Amino acid sequence: MESVASAPGKTILFGEHAVVYNQPAIAVAVDKRAVIRIKKSSKGVSTFWSNDLGFEAELDIPNKNYKLIKGRPGIIRYVLEILNKWHDNYYRDPLDIKLSLNIPIGSGLGSSAAVTVATLAALFNYHGFPFNKKVLAKEAHKIEKSVQGMASPLDTAVSTYGGLIYLSRNKEISEFKLDIDSDFVIGFTEKKGNTGAMVKSVNALKDRNPRIVSSIIETMGQITDEAKDALLNKDYNKLADLMNLNQGFLDAIGVNTFELSRMIYTARKNGAIGAKITGAGGGGSIIALAPNNALNVVKSLNVEDKGILASITHKGALAKVRK
Ligand code: MEV
Repeated sequence: MESVASAPGKTILFGEHAVVYNQPAIAVAVDKRAVIRIKKSSKGVSTFWSNDLGFEAELDIPNKNYKLIKGRPGIIRYVLEILNKWHDNYYRDPLDIKLSLNIPIGSGLGSSAAVTVATLAALFNYHGFPFNKKVLAKEAHKIEKSVQGMASPLDTAVSTYGGLIYLSRNKEISEFKLDIDSDFVIGFTEKKGNTGAMVKSVNALKDRNPRIVSSIIETMGQITDEAKDALLNKDYNKLADLMNLNQGFLDAIGVNTFELSRMIYTARKNGAIGAKITGAGGGGSIIALAPNNALNVVKSLNVEDKGILASITHKGALAKVRK
């Protein structure tokens, strides 16, 4: 018997950093997925491996530890946390867990949330535990929080439900039932950002300049609310204005870098109508909206950095059991 589950990656459209100060945020699930396959192991030890990421490890689930056979999987801590909580407490039989991933690591497309949601769904299904998406999103958020120390519920909610998700000021998640009729482009650099460090540096800037930074954060919240209306009205020119305005404020609070700026200006020069940092900044990724020029923007980003085409997916977490 094999249990298979998958979950999509995501990108933040609006609200990064401001969300830390209880402002709203909008994220979208993208057509790149993590797939987890779980079956009983014949080797007497649990294993976790991925051809896509080139790693193989033997798991010591009770101690949340592992022995590497090859490669270096950053994602393994999430899988160990899940197995320790949801497998070892109930059953002790060794498992073989295979990860397939077409989300580029370091692209800011939320690979850890996608792997967390897919692993939980596959494991719940393997054991026949009843679950719905609400339970899955909540549990996946708890796992991310215990591994990372802090995490907003946005990433795991988007990977669970798919589509477009709005996180309100009082942390309620709601789904928009609508499409974005345009591909968008994700650009990313080798140089990764450190989310914890960026959140801290914004906080320090706010401590030194409380009135100014607070009003920027509040304005970012207003941008997110206007973006929600622009999405509902499918007004992509307005959405692009709001992305560009938001980028100015992200720059103002110090999370921009030379490489991110280079990608943003390259995207705009080559046909993007809106472009901004997505995620924590300090390195990492940008998102660009280019309704008629997406491929041209990808090509231009690939000269000095990396660009990929992404589109919205409404397929959230999916799980099934194969006999
Ligand atoms: C990082 O993807 C988004 C931040 O707002 C941090 C967070 O919400 O946890 C910078």
